[in-house]
Amino acid sequence: MRIDRAAIEMVLSREFWRMAIIWPLTLVYCYARLNLAALFRRRPLPRQHFRRCLVPDSAGGDFKRPICIITGATSGLGSAAARALAGEGYNVVLVGRSAESLHKTIQEIKLEHGDAQLKAFQVDLSSLQSIMKFETSFKQWLLDSDLHPSVQLLINNAGILATSARLTADGFDQMIQTNYISAVVLTSILLPLIKNSTSPSRIVNVTSFTHRCASNLKLDCKKFSHMAISKKYPFASIYEYSKLCLLLFSYELHRQLHAENPSSKVSVIPVDPGVVQTNILREVPPCLSQLAFRVLSFLHLLQSPEVGVSSIIDAALAPSNVSGEYFFGGKGRRMGSSSLSYNAKVSAELWLNTSIIQEQINLLRSPIS
Ligand SMILES: NC(=O)c1ccc[n+]([C@@H]2O[C@H](COP(=O)([O-])OP(=O)(O)OC[C@H]3O[C@@H](n4cnc5c(N)ncnc54)[C@H](OP(=O)(O)O)[C@@H]3O)[C@@H](O)[C@H]2O)c1
Repeated sequence: MRIDRAAIEMVLSREFWRMAIIWPLTLVYCYARLNLAALFRRRPLPRQHFRRCLVPDSAGGDFKRPICIITGATSGLGSAAARALAGEGYNVVLVGRSAESLHKTIQEIKLEHGDAQLKAFQVDLSSLQSIMKFETSFKQWLLDSDLHPSVQLLINNAGILATSARLTADGFDQMIQTNYISAVVLTSILLPLIKNSTSPSRIVNVTSFTHRCASNLKLDCKKFSHMAISKKYPFASIYEYSKLCLLLFSYELHRQLHAENPSSKVSVIPVDPGVVQTNILREVPPCLSQLAFRVLSFLHLLQSPEVGVSSIIDAALAPSNVSGEYFFGGKGRRMGSSSLSYNAKVSAELWLNTSIIQEQINLLRSPIS
């Protein structure tokens, strides 16, 4: 195991110890709560089986597979979710930033599920322009493929743990834009298609137990960025904050959809996969990420993507009346998230701040259309 200068610098940072001590303790707390709750628990939530569950096409005669869009589908949890949902009979739309990884993932899924229906779109989720282009090409694909203009399942899974400060072309912190803003933008763009589904439809947002550690981070709420040029980038805190924002957004969207229409068939479910051995630590020096995975594995806290994905699949396949509940731990289990994540005032404020993103989208829309 090579220990280099970057690793030494990281070990000397406050953020490293936040990740190395506070995150595992938080995870242990979550499992302790889950196991305590199990003592008094009712039976686990049954999955609703969409296996080969088909949606009528626009003409109402023929039947099609439900459409599921997964972001970050080329690695870790996203690729495991794409494989599992292809097996459940979904027409899976894989969103990823690398054409090569998309091609490879599709080949791998086809080896396992020969009859899988898969479509790949190359999208950089840290660019509003790229997401807007996706909107146009996705709608065109639905049209060209003679598919009903609707989406049954959107899984906002893509995410990064960026260890250095980077600003995107849109002027946001890259981690906040990838983990949170892209999910908000994609959801708002696709919401009309999600609402247009003839069967119940769903948005699943992949958050993290680390949201529980988020405190009042002093970010410029207008730009979600003020730290982005500072040398001491509080990466662990910004990651936690991005996951808390996604959780607040999930509950607020759930509230708004169901207040607008109490019999809404659109559900919103935030999901926490626990700790999973994926490429999420790719920016952490290899000697430290390998050590972290070894320690987590020794403590029986580390899961493979195939096991870790179960809370995402549980959320995707849960009965249609389940919405606004936090899935954690697999086996259909749910628990409460942090008290801050349920604060309606904080989420309403965040919702307002997010309107600045809408303004940027409106500016981008005109040249594209
Ligand atoms: N692993 C864990 O322990 C854990 C725990 C809690 C929550 N999560 C969350 O789970 C989600 C999936 O992460 P993972 O663990 O599976 O990590 P991963 O293996 O690194 O996968 C992340 C995926 O997101 C994609 N992505 C990143 N930036 C993108 C961008 N700008 N545009 C398009 N796609 C982009 C990556 O594409 P490339 O392959 O092209 O980079 C990759 O497919 C994340 O939201 C993460 O925060 C993970």
